[in-house]
Amino acid sequence: MKTIIDFLKAKKEKRKITMISTYDYWSAMLCEKAGIDTILVGDSLGMVIQGRNTTLPVTLEEMIYHAKAVRRGAPNTFIVVDMPFLSYQVNKDEATKNAGRILKETGANAVKLEGGEEIAKTVEKLVSIGIPVMGHLGLTPQSVHALGGYKVQGRTLEQQKKIIKDAKILEQAGVFSIVLEAVPSKLAQEITDFLEIPTIGIGAGNKTDGQVLVLHDLIGIFEKTPKFVKRYMEAGKMIVESLEKFKEEVQEGIFPDENYTYE
Ligand code: KIV
Repeated sequence: MKTIIDFLKAKKEKRKITMISTYDYWSAMLCEKAGIDTILVGDSLGMVIQGRNTTLPVTLEEMIYHAKAVRRGAPNTFIVVDMPFLSYQVNKDEATKNAGRILKETGANAVKLEGGEEIAKTVEKLVSIGIPVMGHLGLTPQSVHALGGYKVQGRTLEQQKKIIKDAKILEQAGVFSIVLEAVPSKLAQEITDFLEIPTIGIGAGNKTDGQVLVLHDLIGIFEKTPKFVKRYMEAGKMIVESLEKFKEEVQEGIFPDENYTYE
């Protein structure tokens, strides 16, 4: 993906979009090497990197710091940056200034905002001044307290109607793509079918136009991951085994031997 036009083209050509949420130089470098279409600098870094229970405390400065590192690691990849909680909800002017800072200071290509109708005017404003916006519906982690926890959304008819309405409103407001998180596959398919813009699913089945996962989940860093995560490797276990081996070899005087020693 080079521009937002490539997202629309991918949908038209029925080519699935791949997105990885990650937060630093080395992992962005590996995503670019693997040909991942787009990197999301997600505010999930609050949990994955900072060890918090929610994404709410993450600041704009922290997002900018991580997005700069990601851009250095992936100079040729389309990068989307999450706008953190309270950086876009207060008013349109603040949202514009903050989204502008993200693009200016990090070299990212787009921002992502959580929510539907309530942020539509802000989306319109950002898009009108040339800031590409990705939407995010379903389980929106910045609203975890209002949602009563990290729960699948769109199980009731009322919730389904609201998510569908929000998706239409966001498309109308000008987003170039929408993340659908933790919604039933049928609902994600319905939304995907009526939108012209692509949907990117996480815990939303395989009928969306693309998929996103957090890198640390898919490589198995943590012991537990949600149902929708496929663990492509067990990196957490491998790292611990390497560290244990290092400790043992140092304690026994095996490392460093002459291969790792200057004359
Ligand atoms: O913050 C994040 O990483 C996200 C993805 C999980 C979609 O929003």
